[in-house]
Amino acid sequence: MKPGQQRPVVLITGAGKRVGAAIARTLHAAGYDLALHCRRSVAEAEALAGELEQQRADSTLVLQAELANIDALPALVDVLLARFGRLDGLVNNASAFYPTPVGTATAAQWNELFASNAQAPFFLAQAATPALRDSGGAIVNLVDIYAERPLADHPLYCMAKAALAAMTRALALDLAPVVRVNGVAPGAVLWPSEGKTYDDQDALLSRTPLKRSGSPDDVAGAVLWLLRDAPFVTGQILPVDGGRTLSV
Ligand SMILES: NC(=O)c1ccc[n+]([C@@H]2O[C@H](COP(=O)([O-])OP(=O)(O)OC[C@H]3O[C@@H](n4cnc5c(N)ncnc54)[C@H](OP(=O)(O)O)[C@@H]3O)[C@@H](O)[C@H]2O)c1
Repeated sequence: MKPGQQRPVVLITGAGKRVGAAIARTLHAAGYDLALHCRRSVAEAEALAGELEQQRADSTLVLQAELANIDALPALVDVLLARFGRLDGLVNNASAFYPTPVGTATAAQWNELFASNAQAPFFLAQAATPALRDSGGAIVNLVDIYAERPLADHPLYCMAKAALAAMTRALALDLAPVVRVNGVAPGAVLWPSEGKTYDDQDALLSRTPLKRSGSPDDVAGAVLWLLRDAPFVTGQILPVDGGRTLSV
């Protein structure tokens, strides 16, 4: 669809697979057109775009970028605006996640974990702010319950997500009254890819009152609610964790 279109548009980072793809399917089904950002998962993002285009033609755009490259971030917004002519939502979903035990952490790990989890969300939000002000849009950041209650041996990831939580509140203040900024803090919804572990999964689920892991769709539903159905909510981070943060 050309500039001036009526359908709302959302940019989702890390949208090629896993939780990002679930968010994309949920928002698209709710009527949003999408800019699907990816880095390495170009084939997955293109396949997802093809699937969504079958449902509604001219409704997607795939954008490839390394988010650590700050200088490339404004161009993502520019390309999106050239295609769709508007931006109504930014979902900062992309994330690096791996352990960095004290004594082993490196500056490169610091840079990688902060780049996707805190730095890019801020600079993307900054680049998107004029368009979001024009549309009365919203930002949703994918935080983590570990921003508040750290996961052992993951200090840099936890610190980066804590920065994202702080950013959520700071930008909610600074972009009000027009643009709302909120976060979703998932518990376990999808176990990390091969070679990484969150925790002993059974032990973790035994500490979760709802006695199951969540699904990507649980997270996607919360993102949709914060984007579309929560006009008086800003600066909040909604745990989607089966009640896990209720107990110590
Ligand atoms: N999964 C869970 O149970 C869980 C729990 C708590 C919080 N969360 C949060 O929820 C969000 C989604 O979780 P997930 O497990 O689906 O995430 P994920 O699979 O670990 O990562 C999502 C995508 O982030 C992209 N990415 C990472 N670093 C990047 C960089 N430097 N530049 C560009 N893209 C980068 C990757 O895209 P490419 O593949 O295209 O390279 C990756 O596919 C994340 O923010 C995560 O922290 C998830």
